[in-house]
Amino acid sequence: MKYFLDSAKINEIDKAYHDYAIDGVTTNPRHIMASGKPFLTALKDIAAWVKENHLEGKDVFPVSVEINPHIEDAKTMVEEAKKVAALCENFVIKIPCTPEGVKAAHMLEQEGIRTNVTLVFSPSQAIQAGRIGAMFVSPFLGWKESAGEDSYDYMGRIANIYREKGYQTEIIAAAVRSGKQIAEMAELGVDIVTAGLAVYEESFKHPFTDYGLGIFRDSWDHTEGN
Ligand code: E4P
Repeated sequence: MKYFLDSAKINEIDKAYHDYAIDGVTTNPRHIMASGKPFLTALKDIAAWVKENHLEGKDVFPVSVEINPHIEDAKTMVEEAKKVAALCENFVIKIPCTPEGVKAAHMLEQEGIRTNVTLVFSPSQAIQAGRIGAMFVSPFLGWKESAGEDSYDYMGRIANIYREKGYQTEIIAAAVRSGKQIAEMAELGVDIVTAGLAVYEESFKHPFTDYGLGIFRDSWDHTEGN
């Protein structure tokens, strides 16, 4: 299963790539706002980081980026997506799962511009992304769980439908909030998880690892001849 970092901050992307070997990045307008930079500057800085780290290319390290979320019609979405996609080969354009959004994603994929159908909250929405051949579909977990809804069964249903229908679209479990959810997504056969840096940091930790290391260090120190 691939790990993507959900962030637009260069220091976080850099740390997650070098320390945790992340396979790609996802951003959204909230992450861009948190980066403190204007939209285009944030994207250009990510594109420059990709270049500095020799990760340029369509087949490596995808970076999902949104277009202006105020745009509602497919034609304008396509125009904007083309401008943003031209900034960096690695960019995959996030398109909201609305009827106009799915229409735009279909047109973009037909023209060779990769898309990530986002803001997906139901299996029937996810089917639309698979049908039109989007590169990625992003069903959200965290937001559903915050609203008191289940996310395990919902993701399981989407993963099963995709297997059953043979859709090539990769599933990104988005808004993942814990190591438990990462493991659950792996069990379900989901292709990718995307989460913030803190989630990955926490998911590497277990108190028994530190406890065990203490015991082993003590044993090492009390072994004759060491
Ligand atoms: C996914 O692509 C989204 O950017 C993301 O997971 C949204 O959730 P969050 O910003 O609440 O983590």
